[in-house]
Amino acid sequence: MDLTLSVVGCGYLGATHAACMSSLGYTVVGVDTDPEKVAQLQSGSLPFYEPGLETLLAQEVKSGRLSFTTDFAAVAKTDVHFVCVGTPQSKDGLAADLTYVKSAVAAIAPYLKKGSLVVGKSTVPVGTAQSLRGELVKIAPQSDLAWNPEFLREGFAIKDTLTPNRLVVGVANDLAEETLKKVYKPILDLGTPWIRADLPTSELVKVAANSFLATKISFINAMAEVCEAAGGDVTVLAQAIGYDPRIGNKFLQAGIGFGGGCLPKDIRAFMARAEELGAKQALEFLREIDAINLRARLRVIDVVRDELSKELTGYKIAVLGATFKPDSDDVRDSPALDIAAQLNAAGSHVVVHDPKGIEPARKRFPNLEYAESINDAVKGSDLVLHLTEWKEYRQIDPNEIAALVKNKVIIDGRNMLDRDLWRKAGWKFRALGRTD
Ligand code: UDX
Repeated sequence: MDLTLSVVGCGYLGATHAACMSSLGYTVVGVDTDPEKVAQLQSGSLPFYEPGLETLLAQEVKSGRLSFTTDFAAVAKTDVHFVCVGTPQSKDGLAADLTYVKSAVAAIAPYLKKGSLVVGKSTVPVGTAQSLRGELVKIAPQSDLAWNPEFLREGFAIKDTLTPNRLVVGVANDLAEETLKKVYKPILDLGTPWIRADLPTSELVKVAANSFLATKISFINAMAEVCEAAGGDVTVLAQAIGYDPRIGNKFLQAGIGFGGGCLPKDIRAFMARAEELGAKQALEFLREIDAINLRARLRVIDVVRDELSKELTGYKIAVLGATFKPDSDDVRDSPALDIAAQLNAAGSHVVVHDPKGIEPARKRFPNLEYAESINDAVKGSDLVLHLTEWKEYRQIDPNEIAALVKNKVIIDGRNMLDRDLWRKAGWKFRALGRTD
C-alpha cells in the first residue's frame, strides 16, 4: 500500500475507520486532541463498546501499522486525511455545531504536503464541504478536499466499514475520485457499488438516508398509535406491509422510537439547513417525524400510569435497557434512559439494568439506581419495562423471575418479547401498538 492515511478525530467513527483501514494494510495515524483517549487507543483498548473492535484495534496497533497521537504535525507524513470529528446539535438550536470540523481542517492545513487529499466523513449541513474546500486551498493550495459520508451502524461498525452496501464520494475533480478509488480498492474489489457525486449531493445523501430511516420508524409508530385507538396490532400490520418489496420489512419495528447520536440530531440539523436555504417547507414533515418519535416515550409512560396509577410516587419500576440500541454502550438521546429518568422524576423508584450501558448511564443520570443483574433489577418491582432489545432480555425465563417481582406486569417497549410465553407464566403483558 503506497498511500498512507491519517484519521483526525478518534471517537466512534474515527477509531473504527482507523482500525479498519489499518486492517486493509495501510499505515494509519489517528490524531485526537484528547490525550487520555489517545493514550488508551495507543494501548490497544477502546473507550467505548463495539463488538469485535477492541480485538481489531489491539491487533492493528500491535502490527505497527496503526498509531495514535495528539500532535497534528503527524499528518505531514501522510497522503490522505479523513476528518471524523463530531457534529453535535448546537446548544442554542436545531443546527449542527461545526466547531470541531472547522478546527480539525484548520489544524491539519499547515502540515499538508503537496497533493494531499482531505476527506470529510462527518455528517455536515449541505454546503459545508464547498466552503471548507475554499478555506483549505487558501492555506494549502496544492491540496484538495472531498466528502465521503459514512453509513455505519453502531453494533455493526466493522462490517459496515469493510463491506459497506455502497461507497459515496463527493469530489470536485477526477484526481480526487482516483485517489479515493485507490484507497478503497480492496473494498471496491468486492463489488461494492461506487457513487461519484458533487460535494453538496454527497453531503445530502447522508442526511437523506437518515431522514428516510427516521421516517420509516416514525411511520410505524404512528400506525401503532392508530392500532391502539382502533383495537389493532401493529406487529401484524408491520409484517403484512413488509412483504411488499417496495416497502420492505426493515426498520418497521414499532416501540419507543429512535435515539442515539445520529438520527435525532441529523433530522433536526437537516430542517435547520433547509430553512437557511429557503426550502423550509420541503422538510416540514420531519418536524412531525420528530414529534411522533418523542411521543412514543410519553405513550409508554401512559401505559405505566394505566397499570399502576395516575400518581407514580412510591412504586418500584424495573427498567430493562439503558442504551439507545442493543450491542452498544451508547446512551446519547436514549429513549430507554429518558423514560427511566421521567418515571424517576414522577416519584417512582426506578432500577435500571443494562448489559453494557450502566456506567455511561450513571454518568448522565447519577440519581437513578442501577442493578448489575436482571434479577436484582426486578426484585420487588411493581412493574417491569423492557426498553432496549438486548438478546439477554429475550432469554429471560418469565417463570423464573415471576417469583422475584411484587406484581407480574411487563410492558414491552420494543415489541420483541414472546407475548404468549410471558402470559403462560402468568404475567400481564402489554406492548405499544397492540391492544390485546
Ligand atoms: C444510524 C444509521 O442507521 C446509520 O446508517 C448512520 O450511519 C448512523 O445512524 P445508528 O445510530 O447506529 O445508525 O442506529 P440505527 O440502527 O439506525 O437505530 C437508530 C434507532 O432507531 C435506535 O434507537 C433503534 O432502537 C431505533 N429503531 C430502529 C426502531 O425504533 N425501530 C426500527 O425498526 C429500527
